[in-house]
Amino acid sequence: MKSDSGFSKLSKRKKLRWVVENFFRNPEEVMRELTGFWHTSEEKQKIFDEFSENTLSNFYLPFGIAPNFVINGTTYCVPMVIEESSVVAAASAGAKFWMDRGGFHATVTDVTKAGQVHFTWNGEKSKLESVFPDLKARLIAEAKHFTANMDKRGGGILNIALVDKKEIEPGYYQLDCTFDTCDAMGANFINSVLEQFAKTLKGFVATHPTFDEAEREVSIVMAILTNYTPECLVKAWTECPIEELGKVAEDDPQTFAKKFELAVRIAMHDVARATTHNKGIFNGIDAVVLATGNDFRAVEGCGHTYASRNGQYQSLTTCSLKDGMFRFSIEFPISIGTVGGLTSLHPLAKRSLELLGNPTAKELMQIIVCVGLAQNFAAVKSLVTTGIQFGHMKMHLMNILIHMEASDQEMELAVEHFNDKTISYTAVREFLETFRADNLVQNKSV
Ligand code: MEV
Repeated sequence: MKSDSGFSKLSKRKKLRWVVENFFRNPEEVMRELTGFWHTSEEKQKIFDEFSENTLSNFYLPFGIAPNFVINGTTYCVPMVIEESSVVAAASAGAKFWMDRGGFHATVTDVTKAGQVHFTWNGEKSKLESVFPDLKARLIAEAKHFTANMDKRGGGILNIALVDKKEIEPGYYQLDCTFDTCDAMGANFINSVLEQFAKTLKGFVATHPTFDEAEREVSIVMAILTNYTPECLVKAWTECPIEELGKVAEDDPQTFAKKFELAVRIAMHDVARATTHNKGIFNGIDAVVLATGNDFRAVEGCGHTYASRNGQYQSLTTCSLKDGMFRFSIEFPISIGTVGGLTSLHPLAKRSLELLGNPTAKELMQIIVCVGLAQNFAAVKSLVTTGIQFGHMKMHLMNILIHMEASDQEMELAVEHFNDKTISYTAVREFLETFRADNLVQNKSV
């Protein structure tokens, strides 16, 4: 079904009406359901509608917290937005485990961000190089209207370099630019500056006396930030004497530590395992990134590229057992903000930041990465001891029961029944069927 042109200009109700009438068998019911998720306050709903385009309703995700995160000596209660059961429970368990053993430690090495103006130009390279200091000064001067505020806050443009990329295409160059965006993620700032750079570059080359008539044309391919920010690097770790790990499930501390270390090493060498291992890290990272109104696609992109920096996709965490110490660490580049964008517009993102004590971008980078580390610790700990399904299926049991429309009484009985049994979709269905059949017989005989 094709919409009429001008669809985007219709009111929200009209868009919704068109969708329900053309794509659903029961339009009135769907209309009621989707409008039922609208915010009761028109003013608040408007905020959500304006985040995106063609919005019809709101898509809810759970907003939860993982308490007891000790990071660099401060205890945080971390907000997490995630739909997968057991992620928050695992993060909380990881946090609690390390709380009693000194907590997490983290440092940020740098916060430099980057972007490029990609262009082609057929001229004598040495001429461009000779006028580059002038060009650089012009680029900075003409971008002042975008950078003035950021400069005042102590950030702005850090450097602009000319890079010859002829190995990709003859005459292809980049202006490789670096920025400090202070506490903002800075995507809009960087892209605006880069687009201004592209205009200035074109004008400069078109009019500068150094260039011949045939050299005056710069063709801009694109001007865009890179989400790969390896310099925005957080190093986080947690450590304790192996003996202090205590008994983990059935394992003594030494056995557990060895199994854990091997599991992490496997993820260093085996791509299949590394992908799932890192997915577990992102379970924690994405949930906090989302809760604080940051861009989880950017964070994912950067993290996965970093995981491949040695030519093979590898674990983002490492584990060492040396001199009787268990040390578990992560290096993770992350570009996020605590001001601007959704962080200030989304009412719950604002509350998340408040819950974290209104951190600076550097502090939030550390918190997010420590949650990733805790998440990975909890996952691998389960994997090498009880297995992941032990905890997972307990949480999943509730989802299955809700899906099967179990009553409160049925839920209570099911939780009790499956306490020491293997949970599966079939087992839960059979349990409910038996319970309901018994109930029917009893009711009839009363
Ligand atoms: C599930 O969402 C994440 C895990 O598979 C991660 C892992 O295997 O390390 C449990």
